[in-house]
Amino acid sequence: MITAPQRDELIRLAVEAKFHAYAPYSRFRVGAALLADDGLIFHACNVENSSYSLTICAERNAVFQAVSTGRTRFQAIAIASDSNEFLPPCGACRQVLAEFNPSLEIILTTPDGKSRLTTLTELFPMPADLRHLARGLAPDLPHR
Ligand code: THU
Repeated sequence: MITAPQRDELIRLAVEAKFHAYAPYSRFRVGAALLADDGLIFHACNVENSSYSLTICAERNAVFQAVSTGRTRFQAIAIASDSNEFLPPCGACRQVLAEFNPSLEIILTTPDGKSRLTTLTELFPMPADLRHLARGLAPDLPHR
């Protein structure tokens, strides 16, 4: 479990990142702050594109930044948007988060300062896992 000061810092940085969102198409700003095991926090926003499907969510952006600096162990993520309802991570982000910690702590927030703690175990109890692939390889397909 993360501490209250860690939670507050994650929320602060998720909100800060939200203000950098590049979201001219949806006009929906999202910020995420990811706590690595070594205590470092990586924060990121959503970045949209005029080819809409190339958009990257704030959560995945934070994970990719952290992994690009050599971190692969994470304790918690905070997510901020401008919605008055808690914004849970999308399915794609849940799968990417589960790659590194299937029981990650998740802090959902609203702009008026409310927060709700949940876990990836609760939101995404059965992630796809490479072990499933390894057990089901077709014996007769040639390898490229
Ligand atoms: N978005 C995120 O960044 N995170 C979420 O959890 C949900 C959606 C972004 C993607 C897109 O830029 C905008 O919000 C609207 O879907």
